[in-house]
Amino acid sequence: MALDTIIELNNLSVYQRNILVLSEVTLSIGKGEFVYLIGKTGTGKSSLLKTLYADLPVKEGEAEVVGYNLKTIKLREVPYLRRKLGIVFQDFQLLNDRSVNDNLMFVLKATGWDDKTTMDERIKDVLDKVGLGTKGFKMPHQLSGGEQQRVSIARALLNDPELILADEPTGNLDPETSDGIMSLLFDISHSGRAVLMATHNYALMEKYPTRTLKCEAGRVSTAENSANHAIGINGI
Ligand SMILES: Nc1ncnc2c1ncn2[C@@H]1O[C@H](COP(=O)(O)OP(=O)(O)OP(=O)(O)O)[C@@H](O)[C@H]1O
Ligand SMILES: [Mg+2]
Repeated sequence: MALDTIIELNNLSVYQRNILVLSEVTLSIGKGEFVYLIGKTGTGKSSLLKTLYADLPVKEGEAEVVGYNLKTIKLREVPYLRRKLGIVFQDFQLLNDRSVNDNLMFVLKATGWDDKTTMDERIKDVLDKVGLGTKGFKMPHQLSGGEQQRVSIARALLNDPELILADEPTGNLDPETSDGIMSLLFDISHSGRAVLMATHNYALMEKYPTRTLKCEAGRVSTAENSANHAIGINGI
């Protein structure tokens, strides 16, 4: 695997239980890249993302993600893999019984941080990055949908991940708010991480053209409207 390669898949099959969802998936995504994953509903976008964060096992083919071989990874190594990943979901998945700060603190504790001052600083850092530096005391229900999604992106950034996997992160947001989330994710990719984002949002894809992969008929291919270098996404 080349030094700057974040995801390397070779003839990978993606299964949901015994059902083959995708096969012969061969692709590579490097540092600094932002890549869309499109395809009709049920074609396997979420399943592919789940395979990449080791929620679904690799039975056939090869998959290497942030340096971990997903075919041979041990169950006890999965938390270490996930610490190098940031995962963003369509429905935010915040804990509604506690403040934004406590949502983030919860993740830091669960991922092995223990110094209170460093943890507070890190929380402030990631909230600043998503433009919510003053809102840490709020409860999730006191925030708009776009703000909640930004909290979930802040949460994904806590461990300074090499790769962000986002599953329809703008699915529940209005166009203007989605725009803000997109530029945030693009900024993140420009800062040397890779972002793979499943989406149905063609308007945003037109506005922010970049390399695009398509799930169709059990395969993943490069989409024709793919604009690999349109905005210099390779970080060069
Ligand atoms: N937990 C599950 N158990 C069994 N089969 C599943 C499970 N989740 C998804 N599938 C099946 O796997 C296939 C791919 O589903 P997946 O959720 O990956 O599609 P998707 O491209 O993300 O769709 P959408 O655009 O609706 O989110 C579908 O046929 C679906 O029915
Ligand atoms: Mg899905």
